[in-house]
Amino acid sequence: MAAKAIKTLILGCGARGRTYARYALAHPREFEIIATADPRERADFSDWSDALAAHGAEADLAIVALPDRLHFAAGMAALKAGCHLLMEKPIGCTAAECRKLVAAAERAKRAIFPGFVLRHTRQYRKVAQILAEGLIGEVLSIHHLNAVSYPKTVTAFCRGQWAKTAESGPMILTKSSHDLDLINWWCGGRKPKSIVSMGGQKLFKPENAPAGSADGCGACEVAECPFREEDAHCVYKCGADVVDHQSTLIEYEGGPLVNFELEAITARRGRFTRFFGTKGTLLVDEGKVTLRRFGKRERVFLFQPETENHGGGDDGLMADIRRALSSGAAPLELARETLLSHLLAFWAEDSRKAGKICRP
Ligand SMILES: NC(=O)c1ccc[n+]([C@@H]2O[C@H](COP(=O)([O-])OP(=O)(O)OC[C@H]3O[C@@H](n4cnc5c(N)ncnc54)[C@H](O)[C@@H]3O)[C@@H](O)[C@H]2O)c1
Repeated sequence: MAAKAIKTLILGCGARGRTYARYALAHPREFEIIATADPRERADFSDWSDALAAHGAEADLAIVALPDRLHFAAGMAALKAGCHLLMEKPIGCTAAECRKLVAAAERAKRAIFPGFVLRHTRQYRKVAQILAEGLIGEVLSIHHLNAVSYPKTVTAFCRGQWAKTAESGPMILTKSSHDLDLINWWCGGRKPKSIVSMGGQKLFKPENAPAGSADGCGACEVAECPFREEDAHCVYKCGADVVDHQSTLIEYEGGPLVNFELEAITARRGRFTRFFGTKGTLLVDEGKVTLRRFGKRERVFLFQPETENHGGGDDGLMADIRRALSSGAAPLELARETLLSHLLAFWAEDSRKAGKICRP
């Protein structure tokens, strides 16, 4: 007998909520959307709490795709109603919130599927398979770069909702919990032993604004500024305080040593990784995975780049949730892994701010 469609609530129908809704609508045998909530979009309810109060008890899954600061409260309420969660990242804005949410999910025996969609791409699955098969031997170190690109940085992290740490969290959490999740996954459940992080915000400060610049782009006469946007606030004067460059070293118990770089002001966007193993190296460059084993011919695998639909990860996550929930054994251990990825971000930020090595 075919499994029943998963009764789903969509809390927040912005870009992410609509992405998941599109998958659900295209796969009606897998997901049935029973209610939606959003004050700005066409939705059944204008607030997430009303949707949960009316339909939480009959829902199997709540998709929390709200602004960051609402994730924790909505996630807790959805667990109380008995739902599994697809939680957009971050699952909380502080370490305490993340810990509480995961503890509540464990008590309720409900799964948290985080919006770490990169795990669900063919490219990163191939990487995980190559590592698991030991094709490059024991991994001694990993270099991973997230190049955000200056247009994305300017829109989202200077003028947008992730510009101010007090309102949304540090950039290593809001932008790079994906990267930290990948890193934890590659390190196969080992524990981070020490973390040291350095970096800061250098460029987009009022003192660096070009001479003669106005407060808004509309009135500004600095024609050659690459950061101009129609009707936008001057990028140097909009009060952003999140980092524009940050390097983090993480040493796992029993190895490997990970060097993770977050660069906000780059020409190209993408994630680039180098694995150095005892039997070879593995390079991952936006849709291209190159395996170089010592003494063997190079092999190249090509995939959809991440810049398109997260490399297929958005649909991949939904398909994996359907498989997991219809098997009857929800993957409860995912919540712990998700927590670790978030804690790594907070530990790195503590280290950066205090100028000390963090030993959790
Ligand atoms: N997994 C990823 O790769 C990824 C990518 C982008 C964003 N995100 C995360 O997804 C979340 C949503 O991001 P987005 O880009 O869709 O933002 P968005 O602003 O497009 O969507 C958020 C929606 O929530 C709605 N909302 C606000 N208050 C509400 C309330 N009280 N009740 C119901 N709805 C409410 C807003 O009106 C908006 O439509 C964010 O937390 C973000 O960090 C994840």
